[in-house]
Amino acid sequence: MRIGIVQTKPEFGAVDENIERALALIGEARSDLWILPELFATGYQFRSRAEAWSYAEPVPDGPTTKRLIDAARDLDSFICAGLPEIDNENVYNSSVLVGPDGLVARYRKLHLFFHEKELFSPGNLPLPVADIGMARVGMMICFDHFFPEAARTLAVAGAQVIAHPANLVMPLYAQLTMRVRALENGVFTATANRVGDEARTETTLHFTGESQIVSPSGEILVSLSPTEERAAVVEIDPALASDKSLNPLNDRLADRRPSFYKALD
Ligand code: ACM
Repeated sequence: MRIGIVQTKPEFGAVDENIERALALIGEARSDLWILPELFATGYQFRSRAEAWSYAEPVPDGPTTKRLIDAARDLDSFICAGLPEIDNENVYNSSVLVGPDGLVARYRKLHLFFHEKELFSPGNLPLPVADIGMARVGMMICFDHFFPEAARTLAVAGAQVIAHPANLVMPLYAQLTMRVRALENGVFTATANRVGDEARTETTLHFTGESQIVSPSGEILVSLSPTEERAAVVEIDPALASDKSLNPLNDRLADRRPSFYKALD
């Protein structure tokens, strides 16, 4: 199986242009699953809840999800990407997984980062794992990386690949934690981050790039630059993520002692 990450530099608010630019970065490259950044079409730094609402779209009937489904059909692949989702009175920082036949899964970010708490409603759906034939794919978004429970939940639910759209602004924390998330859970992780700056409020945000794909043994299979837009593809064997053993006597999931983790409930 081939999985690919697309590292983009969206221009805030230029939705159509940002979508087409991301697809142009894929170009003629072949992958079975593509991961694009969080809020990849809109940009990140909304000035207000009202502004986030004005860009939010229903899933799957909004234009961004529809365009992604068309692209998945053209590319004969699956695509995971982040967007602001409107549902009744709420706007979520969401991601979709789409394929040639339409929407496969959606996720609403559970752990909102900093000012996102003033812009979005917190996620209200389970962390999803979808079987796309070649692999079982789980989704989490950006700051979820700081909560090991998110990746663990996906691994226990059977994910072999964790698709991780991101807009990272802290100094390479996720590039570190996602190696650990991959290793401790025995899964592939694919973090698609963005690059560039946004200065739409008094705070200038710098997005760190260095998107990466990590193997179940914590090896970085590909790591992109801190500044450049680019797509990259690696070949993986998802079956490697079904074997959780570290040695003949230790298994990363079976050796857990949940009865001693009650404080987590
Ligand atoms: C983040 O969750 N976008 C840092």
